[in-house]
Amino acid sequence: MVAFSKLSALCGLAAVASGLPTILQRTDQVKDQYDYVIVGGGTAGLTVADRLTESGKYSVLVIEYGVFQNGSAVTTVGLGFLGITDPALSFNFSSAPQTSLGGRSFPVLVGKMLGGSSGHNGMQVHRGQKEDYDRWSSYFGSNSCGWGWDDILPYFKKAWHFHPPNKDLATQNGIKYDAKYWGTSSNIHASWPTFTWSFLKTEMAAFGDIPGVQYPPDSGAGQPGAFWYPTSADPGPVLRSFSRPGHWDGISDARPNYHTITGQQVLKVLFDKQNRATGVSYLPVGSTNLSAALSVKAKKEVIMAAGTIHTPQILQASGVGPKKLLKDAKIDVVVDLPGVGANFQDHVYQIGATFNLNNFPPVPEPNDLFNNATFMALAQAEFDANRTGPLTIASGNCGAFLPFPLISPSSFSTIASRYESQPAGAYLPPNTDPLVVAGYAAQKKALASTLRSKSSAVYNFFLRGSRNESAIVYLHPLSRGTVQIAPSDPYFTQPTVDWRALTNPADADVLVEFTRFTRRYWALPALQKYQPVEAAPGANVTDPKDIVAWLRGNMNPSVYHPIGTAAMMPRDLGGVVGQDLLVYGTKGLSVVDASVFPDLPGAYTQQTVYAVAEKAADLIKGRQ
Ligand SMILES: Cc1cc2nc3c(=O)[nH]c(=O)nc-3n(C[C@H](O)[C@H](O)[C@H](O)COP(=O)(O)OP(=O)(O)OC[C@H]3O[C@@H](n4cnc5c(N)ncnc54)[C@H](O)[C@@H]3O)c2cc1C
Ligand SMILES: *[C@@H]1O[C@H](CO)[C@@H](O)[C@H](O)[C@H]1NC(C)=O
Ligand SMILES: *[C@@H]1O[C@H](CO)[C@@H](O)[C@H](O)[C@H]1NC(C)=O
Ligand SMILES: *[C@@H]1O[C@H](CO)[C@@H](O)[C@H](O)[C@H]1NC(C)=O
Ligand SMILES: *[C@@H]1O[C@H](CO)[C@@H](O)[C@H](O)[C@H]1NC(C)=O
Ligand SMILES: *[C@@H]1O[C@H](CO)[C@@H](O)[C@H](O)[C@H]1NC(C)=O
Ligand SMILES: *[C@@H]1O[C@H](CO)[C@@H](O)[C@H](O)[C@H]1NC(C)=O
Ligand SMILES: *[C@@H]1O[C@H](CO)[C@@H](O)[C@H](O)[C@H]1NC(C)=O
Repeated sequence: MVAFSKLSALCGLAAVASGLPTILQRTDQVKDQYDYVIVGGGTAGLTVADRLTESGKYSVLVIEYGVFQNGSAVTTVGLGFLGITDPALSFNFSSAPQTSLGGRSFPVLVGKMLGGSSGHNGMQVHRGQKEDYDRWSSYFGSNSCGWGWDDILPYFKKAWHFHPPNKDLATQNGIKYDAKYWGTSSNIHASWPTFTWSFLKTEMAAFGDIPGVQYPPDSGAGQPGAFWYPTSADPGPVLRSFSRPGHWDGISDARPNYHTITGQQVLKVLFDKQNRATGVSYLPVGSTNLSAALSVKAKKEVIMAAGTIHTPQILQASGVGPKKLLKDAKIDVVVDLPGVGANFQDHVYQIGATFNLNNFPPVPEPNDLFNNATFMALAQAEFDANRTGPLTIASGNCGAFLPFPLISPSSFSTIASRYESQPAGAYLPPNTDPLVVAGYAAQKKALASTLRSKSSAVYNFFLRGSRNESAIVYLHPLSRGTVQIAPSDPYFTQPTVDWRALTNPADADVLVEFTRFTRRYWALPALQKYQPVEAAPGANVTDPKDIVAWLRGNMNPSVYHPIGTAAMMPRDLGGVVGQDLLVYGTKGLSVVDASVFPDLPGAYTQQTVYAVAEKAADLIKGRQ
């Protein structure tokens, strides 16, 4: 038995005295074999690791590329989203040029630390609509089993500990919530700021003047509409709540069967002759000497949780992926699985019209305060002193999530039908495998229904309570991209990430309607006293062609919600994992992160990642 010692003195923090094993400091402390090896200690990875180790029956090793970080950049909630610019904590590399966005490239930004993207996300917590999960389940037709709304709702409850908002705050702002959609047992917390921007109330009320807009009973009710939603913060100590404090801090310490090693890059999954995953090979980050690669065995399962960008990279580098790509990279094919790295999706943003309010009321305004260094320093000092400062001032905690028929009562049906009648392969990458095309045909049918539905949300206006409002998010983009290893260097060159945003013309049709709707919103009589003026694209830009030209020059293909590159779909629809989350054509290999989402929910992705991971843990334990 090797003596383990607690990693100490990182980020200025003193070592915890207990001295039980948590982070292994050297690769020679890794045992030869564990029941489960988890690739990636991110949002899903640590959730699954916690659940698999809780009985004490199974040993688990988590291998994480990034570092252990407990400094204020990670834990602070006061300044929310602003904590993510430390390059040590993020993968941040350039995408492929976006051919339909004027050839522009964009940063591919994902978490690189114990806790993954949950350690630096925007902390907004919503879950999408009932129809999103019923659509996932529909891809399996009569074989569908366990992934509809009714099946996943218990996992949303298991995954999140809900705290009601402060009573006065709720009354003053008309915040509706209903705890029956939530649980209270998780260590992942959904709570509320102690402060809101007062203009939000006005903006929320205005949505009620638009025919058909509902105010659902809770953000978690599975319904579209205008609603308030919580923040991923632990209200006790007032800290960011993410997978590391929730599923690792103090937990792995107490469990000798829960090992973690950081600063290690998993290179590939190892297989025996029967395609059983027997373990993984890895190297300390920074080393590129493949002949020095280390390996560790998994007795029961290798569990992929490296996220939507790196899970497909590792699978492809292991010989699980599209045959032609593997051949180009001189990698032996273990399973020809064309869906690995295909079906790539993300939420598109800043696609509406930007409005400035020339007569903003005399109330606190986020841009003013963020740009006021004195205020920011005082807020941070107050927060650090007693943790009662203005929480999550970066996030508005409310917005509209609206069905397409409300956005475009006159055109939604024509646009949906035009999309539905496209040949399925018409706008996919050239030479897309027929199985992937078949999967897209199924998605196209389902998403055409989503465009026609009054129970799904397609348009999201993420309100900020600001005099400059622009954050429109497109929840169900129809274009599909790819994530592929660099054939010349599968391991150490970042994969080629191509959203292929706006390559499907139906997306342009939808986005033109978004721009028109946003104009309709700001033209509401109730908002005229604030004198909204369109800053972009500009009130004179009304021809759809000109709106689209503006979008191509200005929209962003990502709001950091990548999904879909190891989709849970039937194998003959280009799927990578089945409803049991096991990779087709292999044994003992599963995927549990956001890459299994077959398509995007009508919400940002973290809440669903935790719920999927909770369900994954039950599925994996159920295989015993
Ligand atoms: C900037 C940003 C803002 C966001 N804002 C929000 C928001 O406000 N609300 C919301 O709901 N969602 C938000 N999201 C999305 C949400 O955080 C993610 O969908 C979710 O955290 C993804 O979880 P995951 O487990 O799939 O991947 P991750 O949490 O990213 O975990 C993957 C882990 O694998 C590790 N890894 C990668 N490659 C290797 C390798 N080769 N070997 C070992 N380890 C590896 C990574 O370092 C990482 O820790 C945001 C994301 C980002 C990046
Ligand atoms: C990502 O990299 C780009 C380009 O180097 C840089 O401008 C940006 O600030 C980085 N973003 C983060 C969050 O680190
Ligand atoms: C991380 O920091 C917070 C706040 O300082 C502290 O409460 C927590 O115990 C720390 N966690 C670890 C694992 O050091
Ligand atoms: C690579 O690793 C092998 C095996 O450990 C070692 O023999 C060799 O010297 C290393 N090469 C370099 C360039 O470090
Ligand atoms: C915000 O709106 C105000 C009022 O119209 C305007 O003067 C200012 O330039 C805008 N700021 C930004 C960053 O667009
Ligand atoms: C900046 O913030 C400080 C502290 O809240 C305040 O006193 C000051 O008036 C602000 N400055 C401006 C220009 O609003
Ligand atoms: C928190 O600290 C600030 C100064 O740092 C102080 O003004 C404020 O009253 C304190 N609030 C509470 C609730 O203690
Ligand atoms: C709209 O007006 C702006 C500013 O006057 C101008 O630059 C732009 O070309 C006009 N666009 C169209 C489509 O008319």
